Amino acid sequence: MKIVHVASELFPYLKTGGLADAVASLAGTLADNGHEVSVFLPGYRTALEHKDAAQAERKLRLKIEMGDQFLSGDVRVFSPRKNLNVYLVCREEFFDRRNPYGNGERDYEDNADRFIFFCKGVVETLRLADLQADVVHSHDWQGALLPLLVRDAERKHGVTLAVKTVFTIHNIAYQGLFPRSVFARTNLPEDLNHMDGLEYYEQTNLLKGGILFGDRVTTVSPRYAKEIQTPEFGNGLEGVVQTREHDIVGLLNGVDMAVWNPATDALLPARYSMANLAGKQICRGELLKHCGFAANFKGPVFGVVCRFVEQKGLDLLLANQDFFLAQDCRLVVLGAGEKRYEDTVRALAAQAPAKVFLSAKLDEGMSHLIEAGSDFFVMPSRFEPCGLNQMYSQVYGTIPIVSRVGGLIDTVTDADEFPEAGTGLMCAPTAESLGDALHRAMKLHADKARMSAVQRRGMARDFSWKVAAAGYERLYQESL
Ligand code: ADP
Ligand code: GLC
Repeated sequence: MKIVHVASELFPYLKTGGLADAVASLAGTLADNGHEVSVFLPGYRTALEHKDAAQAERKLRLKIEMGDQFLSGDVRVFSPRKNLNVYLVCREEFFDRRNPYGNGERDYEDNADRFIFFCKGVVETLRLADLQADVVHSHDWQGALLPLLVRDAERKHGVTLAVKTVFTIHNIAYQGLFPRSVFARTNLPEDLNHMDGLEYYEQTNLLKGGILFGDRVTTVSPRYAKEIQTPEFGNGLEGVVQTREHDIVGLLNGVDMAVWNPATDALLPARYSMANLAGKQICRGELLKHCGFAANFKGPVFGVVCRFVEQKGLDLLLANQDFFLAQDCRLVVLGAGEKRYEDTVRALAAQAPAKVFLSAKLDEGMSHLIEAGSDFFVMPSRFEPCGLNQMYSQVYGTIPIVSRVGGLIDTVTDADEFPEAGTGLMCAPTAESLGDALHRAMKLHADKARMSAVQRRGMARDFSWKVAAAGYERLYQESL
């Protein structure tokens, strides 16, 4: 099949979270399976500076209609592996910036224009380069206009650009919600500017376009597919999702075993596997040293790696700071995002520098070292569409402590509730319940035989993308 992916993140060219990993491994696995895969990404500075893009060829020049203006740009393409082309939709004014979505304090004011331009650039390339896609699969609000723009361009130009469109919701909390005036920038027919279209309480909601008009709609775990049809998790779009109740499917992400595999991970000081865990001890020692702690510390090491946003439940973790101060343990946190979380974790680290360590930045190497060197990985998310880190943890023999929401429910089994099958510890997304799970972790850590059994069960699980990609292949076939 000819499959086109459209996303605002793609590892290793631009990554702020799991979207980049998920799109890269899905596209890569589909390419390995023999499909002709193209991935469209905005021409970010980091992507253009990446060594893979050095050979990029300028494919075409763009002149994109945006309301009553025309904006220029160009499209460059390179091929990082067999069967895979990466297309960068470039316009310096929009994408030559340090960060993809905002300056750290707030989102860029021209985000609507940036991503409408991006989507239109994709459609123009489909048309002018005659890509003849079987499937155009776009992701999250930044790609949500694709289903509409593809069909609109087909009508205007009398051509077929895609047999089917697929839209995936990675996180319904981000909707691309803009002033109503933004609608004019789409140049879509005015009848879409109402409540059965993109209009949402007198605003323009781009995500709604993907949910309503994708031929097929997916999300990233079976549990989240159900949750987003409820007011608790639907972020106001539960009614819209319900209209696609019969079409929406939850396909769990996987782990890219070429990147996240302790037996081959080049970012680690030592490698290991279930058969020989000695390397995990070396990683643990290196992690402790890196944080300025004694490398031979015997108590449990708790690791956290996440975007610093409300979703990740950092406030629940911080509500348990007395636990970390009182217990004989270590806490290592890596994260970037909202300053209020950074400030509070920093204050805790300043209060107990011998026990708590914070690295407040994006650091791929450190994220691997924490996964490998910790005993427990803490992820008390308030909601979690899928979550990758709890899967990485299990693959790395690090026991995840997670809240019972979304994809975390689909990928972790509680070791106290299911002593013969457990791979982690689960709690409700509340401070008390997390506190209880942390105490259960101390007990588990003190029982070496039980700890090792839980760890090994996690390592034995198959989270590879083979399974996940097969689900998408079936979906694409069905819809053709
Ligand atoms: P989300 O997509 O909601 O952020 P996921 O668990 O799906 O959550 O994916 C998060 C991804 O981002 C993981 O690969 C994780 O290691 C990575 N990540 C998050 N924060 C950082 C950071 N500060 N440095 C490096 N990697 C990070
Ligand atoms: C989003 C979600 C996360 C998911 C990732 C990849 O960022 O927050 O749960 O794992 O997308 O699908």
